Amino acid sequence: MSVTEIRPGIRYVGVNDRTTTRFEALWSLPNGVSYNAYLVIGERIALIDTVEEGFGSRLEHNIRCQIGDRKIDYLIVNHMEPDHSSSITALRRLYPDIRIVGNARTLEMVRGFYGIDAGTIEVKEGDTLDLGGKILSFHLIPMVHWPETMVTWCAQDKTLFTGDAFGTFGALDGGITDSQTDPDRYWDEMRRYYAAIVGKYGGPVQKALAKVRALAPETLCTTHGPVWQREIPRVLDLYDRMSRYEGEPGAVIAYGSMYGNTEQLAERIARELAEAGVRQIVVHNLSAADPSVVLRDVFRYNTMIVGGPTYNGGLFPPVAQLLEMIASRCVPQRNFAAFGSFSWAGAAVRCLEEYARRLKWEAVCDPVEMKQGFSEEQCDPCRELARRIAERIGR
Ligand code: FEO
Repeated sequence: MSVTEIRPGIRYVGVNDRTTTRFEALWSLPNGVSYNAYLVIGERIALIDTVEEGFGSRLEHNIRCQIGDRKIDYLIVNHMEPDHSSSITALRRLYPDIRIVGNARTLEMVRGFYGIDAGTIEVKEGDTLDLGGKILSFHLIPMVHWPETMVTWCAQDKTLFTGDAFGTFGALDGGITDSQTDPDRYWDEMRRYYAAIVGKYGGPVQKALAKVRALAPETLCTTHGPVWQREIPRVLDLYDRMSRYEGEPGAVIAYGSMYGNTEQLAERIARELAEAGVRQIVVHNLSAADPSVVLRDVFRYNTMIVGGPTYNGGLFPPVAQLLEMIASRCVPQRNFAAFGSFSWAGAAVRCLEEYARRLKWEAVCDPVEMKQGFSEEQCDPCRELARRIAERIGR
């Protein structure tokens, strides 16, 4: 059986993008990304989702390799974000009789993005489409992570086409299912994808998980990254924990520093945490770090220690930007401690404490605040902060 045959009659026709440097023009792609699309082949044929339009000719090639000159009867649109939908217009030129299947919100977007309002089939929760030999049903999972998102279920094959849900950054280097490739390459990229793209929508993800678990799928065909089979329990568990914003024991020290003085506080706190027995510590200089990597770690660990210098009577901009990104993802709870510095009038620590109140994060201890340069005077406050944090981590 070819690696592209996910199940009998279910074929992978997606593509890899190793050229785009920023997903959504925001998030780095050091390992590329895949845009996954699938054919479900019965007496009639359905294509589930398309690919980013720059890769439309590769999609066409992949389809022809699987079905030759047979026509595609239906395009199922699980998700309308253009990385999956922007080949719709070209696909319609290739297959003029294709019927576009989506829910009411999907079809409104198909009109809005592509000016298509004929040849469509509107479906509602639980509706079915009989391909002859395979029956598909449709289940809405709104706000995972757009309002129109739905999943498509093929009961005969216990296969669920999930849209972005359970997706990862990272191209597919040959293998497609988690048995054909090394899944360990994708766990961090799944966390990073979730934190960057889906992280705001924990509540809707929890509702979607309930629907997915009720179906008891044996194959999860996402729109990005590997097809999940063997690793489904781990995938569902990871999504469950991320969507409950549950951090595992560990500390993220995220700081900004203009001339290295605040950085010395960060380094000292990290060392004191290690002295106190904390083993999971990640330190990010926010002027240099990849924001999606920092967000990944914010979602992963239960403690945030954030610091920065005072800048224009406020907080150093890279630190404020991180906290805004966290606030927009509604991360509801983390152990928190602040540190900061100023040259003549302090504001950074006050701003950090205001962010913590806004986020409803509990400050575990008093902040460490430093005037001008780093000296041995700061060592005791850093040690005390680390001691209090170490006591809290893991509780
Ligand atoms: Fe992969 Fe939300 O698009």
